[in-house]
Amino acid sequence: MSTVSWTLDCAECAASYDGLEERHRCECGAPLDVRHGGAPSLSPATADTRLLSRRPEDRSGVWRFREWVLPLDPAELVTRKEGHTNLYDAPQVAAWAGVERLLLKHEGENPTASFKDRGMTVAVSMAKKLGKRSVACASTGNTSASMASYAAAAGLKAYVFIPEGKVAFGKLSQAMAYGATTLQIAGDFDRAMTLVEQLAADEGVYLVNSVNPFRIEGQKAIGFELLQDLEWAVPDWIVLPGGNLGNNWAIAKGLAELYDWGFIPRLPRIAVIQAAGANPLYTAFTQRRALVPVVAETLATAIRIGNPVSWQRSLRGLARVDGVVEQVSDQEIMDAKAEVDAAGIGAEPASCATVAGLKKLVAAGVIAPDAHICGVLTGHVLKDPGTVVDYHLGKLAGIETTRAHPPVQVEGTVEAVKRALGG
Ligand code: F0G
Repeated sequence: MSTVSWTLDCAECAASYDGLEERHRCECGAPLDVRHGGAPSLSPATADTRLLSRRPEDRSGVWRFREWVLPLDPAELVTRKEGHTNLYDAPQVAAWAGVERLLLKHEGENPTASFKDRGMTVAVSMAKKLGKRSVACASTGNTSASMASYAAAAGLKAYVFIPEGKVAFGKLSQAMAYGATTLQIAGDFDRAMTLVEQLAADEGVYLVNSVNPFRIEGQKAIGFELLQDLEWAVPDWIVLPGGNLGNNWAIAKGLAELYDWGFIPRLPRIAVIQAAGANPLYTAFTQRRALVPVVAETLATAIRIGNPVSWQRSLRGLARVDGVVEQVSDQEIMDAKAEVDAAGIGAEPASCATVAGLKKLVAAGVIAPDAHICGVLTGHVLKDPGTVVDYHLGKLAGIETTRAHPPVQVEGTVEAVKRALGG
């Protein structure tokens, strides 16, 4: 008999496991998902009253919704009061994308500067609850930064597997700073992912990639908090980038649960945007067939993934919310990034695929210009400073710099400065 109210279920073969069984995949090989036992007692109104509380479990934009996420005891939580990120009205970006209004939920404002903290607080809390001493992940950078931080907070050892040379400096420096053991794998993310799953199984290390069902439960809170920001109005569209495909599944799962529990009257549609060089979901979706892995290449290194772990449940989530998938080139990503950055908001390249994809979907007539649209920016502008500097210096290979703001070299005299400022 389990002591917890949830089970770990497989959507592919309908198997069900105890909620505390230490496994993230079904015997059939598919990733497992948390199934909650019945409608939770938390209502949106009660979630709103928690906005006035100073308790860590209420301050957190994940645990504020704990009955919808995972009903752990507040004493069990490893939290950095993640979430409560801003939802910006972005008129300049809206005009550029061709829509009347655009709201951008900036998940780069999380404690380690990406959306990953929302899933990580849940996965690391579960690692502690299960008595684990160490955690591991493969990462294009943000997951490892987040895991390293939460593991340090929890007193757990952290093992990071990253593709050598393809992780942005902001992220690599975080993993090192927070004290993780960082393995730079000769190979891409997909290779690192295969290796870390093997290691976790052999060595009893707790895997916290989004194949871990508890990561997904935490990431659902992006959708919950977005609705709370909107005073529980349901937008027409949520647009976000897709790489390993855990996040779009998480948001779809969470919102579908809210709908099924009777807390919201309808579901928003979801648009997943992939880099054209890392587009296996786009191909599977548009050709209506199973995903075929690709060798991924894009300067948006966060989503440089060719064999995404969660593709089946991602497609299932998209079917549930009448979603769509779009692809954008690196040039389109960098053009969109120039707009997001110049609006004073800023985000890393992968995040700006959101805005690039939105522009394309509006031009194609899929998203109406007067729709109620929320985009998710997944990571902070400082995650990838190298790409920003190279872009403004016109040094990004294969990319035309359309909005350059390069620094100007000036002699240290008043006259020279005045001259440089054009009088
Ligand atoms: N945006 C950013 C900034 C990311 O870091 C990621 C994924 C995504 C979007 C895509 O989300 O994988 O749920 O579809 N980064 C992972 C990592 C793979 O290791 O940090 P997804």
